[in-house]
Amino acid sequence: MWSRQRAEDRAAREFVDRLVNPWRRVCERVPGLSHTVQVASGTTIVIPTLARADLSGPDPVLVVRKIHGQLIEDFRADEASRRIAAALGYDRIRVYPRGSEWVRIELLIGDPLDGEVPAPLAGRGLSVSDVEITIARDELGNPLRQSWVEGPHVCIQGATRSGKSVWCYSALAQLARLDDVLIAGSDLSGLLLGRPYVGTRHHEWQATGSADVEAHRDLLVRLVAEMDTRIRNLPPRRDKFTRFHAGFPLIVVVLEEFAGLLRLASTAPVEKGQPKMREQLLALYGRLVSEGHKAGLRLMVVTQRADATVVGGFERGQLGLRISFRLDDPEALVMLHGQSARDHLEEHQLAPPGVALVQAPARPLGRVRGPRLMGPRRTPTTPATGTRSRTARRASTR
Ligand SMILES: Nc1ncnc2c1ncn2[C@@H]1O[C@H](COP(=O)(O)OP(=O)(O)OP(=O)(O)O)[C@@H](O)[C@H]1O
Ligand SMILES: [Mg+2]
Repeated sequence: MWSRQRAEDRAAREFVDRLVNPWRRVCERVPGLSHTVQVASGTTIVIPTLARADLSGPDPVLVVRKIHGQLIEDFRADEASRRIAAALGYDRIRVYPRGSEWVRIELLIGDPLDGEVPAPLAGRGLSVSDVEITIARDELGNPLRQSWVEGPHVCIQGATRSGKSVWCYSALAQLARLDDVLIAGSDLSGLLLGRPYVGTRHHEWQATGSADVEAHRDLLVRLVAEMDTRIRNLPPRRDKFTRFHAGFPLIVVVLEEFAGLLRLASTAPVEKGQPKMREQLLALYGRLVSEGHKAGLRLMVVTQRADATVVGGFERGQLGLRISFRLDDPEALVMLHGQSARDHLEEHQLAPPGVALVQAPARPLGRVRGPRLMGPRRTPTTPATGTRSRTARRASTR
């Protein structure tokens, strides 16, 4: 026992010895990881101290003493963490705080986003005000949850087979169980909306299939009319609705493959004197994006590419929760998320289905895996049920 402990200690010391030099080099190169200090004899570069290693778990862990004033974010920043991992010969790192002065750095082989994220389904009878929807899991293993009452409109882009529909299906399944949510929208494919909702209150608010573009237009007209009625009925001195009930639901408006609908509309005939069908759809969409939020409507715009000709430049700015799955054209990433997405361009082109970059109003762009609704074989397990009710309870106490 004693000698095994000694052998482990020696292995940990040798592990640190091997990494000391690459650690110093990478800290010196990455801004935020080192400080330059002027001393009498010249300039010294101070780096965080690689104190020891812990090899007892499945992945090696480095215990590092931060420099005074350093933040955990300095290690977690995208570029910093990727450079540290590469310099030390690993695929990725995970950084955890340890007291105020130390950090633990887990060195990982492989991708922490491998493995599926089950979509937790809340119990029946809950309100959208009580529940946060699981939208993803991040690289640290933390679930990302979003309140749909507080939350913004959503834009989802991604190449074909990248995971858009699976994400929407998982988010909608969580939302559709809530008594005070209505799932409305347009879906040419008829796979996301339509069939799964036959016989429910949602179905009459959905237009599916590509045979009748007018049905999609008419649905958007109805939604805009409902929005206008709601806005007219806003109580004095209130600028938006925040409480919902079964008779006055929060309306999720899904526009699945909106670009496809616009393409179809470009050849559709219109009544004499009416604007072109494409223009009508864009105008209705524009109104829903810009005025829908205060009326309790939340858009979920799904497209292969969030091009300005499809989602509109101004409208894109209103779609605050932005999710990009793998894209054929990397520039589409910059288009939706801005210049900070440039760091991710190369890696994201190879993202497996379900892996996305997510950006929300108070959340910088980060890599995640989206949830997936598990088939009937896998849902009834007891642990998942336990997680559900805990999640619901925690959400409802906020
Ligand atoms: N979160 C996920 N976890 C695991 N696998 C996933 C996930 N999301 C998607 N996939 C896999 O990728 C496949 C394609 O996903 P999906 O149908 O959502 O793509 P899409 O972007 O909607 O494609 P299209 O543009 O053709 O409609 C799924 O059938 C599934 O096998
Ligand atoms: Mg799809």
